[in-house]
Amino acid sequence: MAHKVILIPGDGIGPEITEAAVRVIEAAGVDIEWERHEAGIPSVQKCGLSVSDELLDSIRRNKIALKGPITTLVGKGFKSANVTLRQKLDLYANLRPVKSIGGIRSRYDKVDLVIVRENTEDLYTGIENLITPGVTQAIKIVTERASLRIARWAFEYAKKNGRKKVTLVHKANIMKISDGLFLRIFDEVAREYPEIVAEDMIVDALAMNLVMDPSRFDVLLLGNLFGDIVSDLAAGLVGGLGVVPGANIGEEYAVFEAVHGTAPDIAGKNIANPTALIFSALLMLRHLGEDAAADRIFKSVVVNLAIGKHLTADLGGTCSTSEYTDELIKEIKSRN
Ligand code: NAI
Repeated sequence: MAHKVILIPGDGIGPEITEAAVRVIEAAGVDIEWERHEAGIPSVQKCGLSVSDELLDSIRRNKIALKGPITTLVGKGFKSANVTLRQKLDLYANLRPVKSIGGIRSRYDKVDLVIVRENTEDLYTGIENLITPGVTQAIKIVTERASLRIARWAFEYAKKNGRKKVTLVHKANIMKISDGLFLRIFDEVAREYPEIVAEDMIVDALAMNLVMDPSRFDVLLLGNLFGDIVSDLAAGLVGGLGVVPGANIGEEYAVFEAVHGTAPDIAGKNIANPTALIFSALLMLRHLGEDAAADRIFKSVVVNLAIGKHLTADLGGTCSTSEYTDELIKEIKSRN
């Protein structure tokens, strides 16, 4: 029976890379019935909301979505569609595996870390006020409930995936109450997992250590804002945003998307790297129990990157998005 998956192409490079992912999944023989929805600017123009009730209901019914990036205007405009989806569907765990891949030129060749980002609170609640002209405030929310469930999620992930260490990243020396709570709860949960090493690190020290020697880290657990920033930094260690996948996971629903944004500088030119979204789709296929197809696609990507003949511009090649995808499909079909 076909899996039903909601497809949100998004904007910018979103439609180009989601199309690539859909073609690749089809080539691997996975039967998926896609239901396409808009979000972000076109949705605001249509119904006044960046995420329509129809889209939310559909994800609630079908449980799974694959999503391209969506523009969020800077300093003005509607609330981010990405943040809205994460909050309304309670997708509290943002998983971002960051791994070196042979064939991709990067600063390191042995990076293998997993970022777990709390996805529902912190400064992303969007509670901001103009107190008086020239004076503003943004409110950082950290609750015991959200800290507890994300800490448990990170340790459970580590346990199930044979990971040895979880590092909590915070700024509790300055935000003593909010990040202090995040740290205290982490320490309590860590005691339930004596087989896993638990450590904590202040975010500025983490940034330096990550650049000096990423191999010393395993699972990193961060709040929403630091998780966002450190994910892009970590992507830079393994070849850039074009290759790092992600998943937003809650108790009931999951939305799979790459770490990167809409890349307006290269949108519409058919030159974006679809690997990050394809890898995100592989996380989705594993979630759906389609492990054999996911393995086949992964091996095909790795082989093509290692051969190095069909790379997109971000990886030093001259291949278009569609040429890259055509070559990948040939490789997948040779393995079917
Ligand atoms: P970005 O991630 O879109 O781009 C940063 C740089 O990386 C650009 O030079 C871009 O060309 C490059 N890049 C990103 N993805 C690439 C790919 N697949 N292949 C090749 N190069 C790639 O970040 P930026 O410019 O800060 O954000 C643009 C828009 O995207 C903003 O409106 C932002 O709010 C939104 N955004 C959306 C996200 C989402 O939907 N989950 C996540 C991050 C940003």
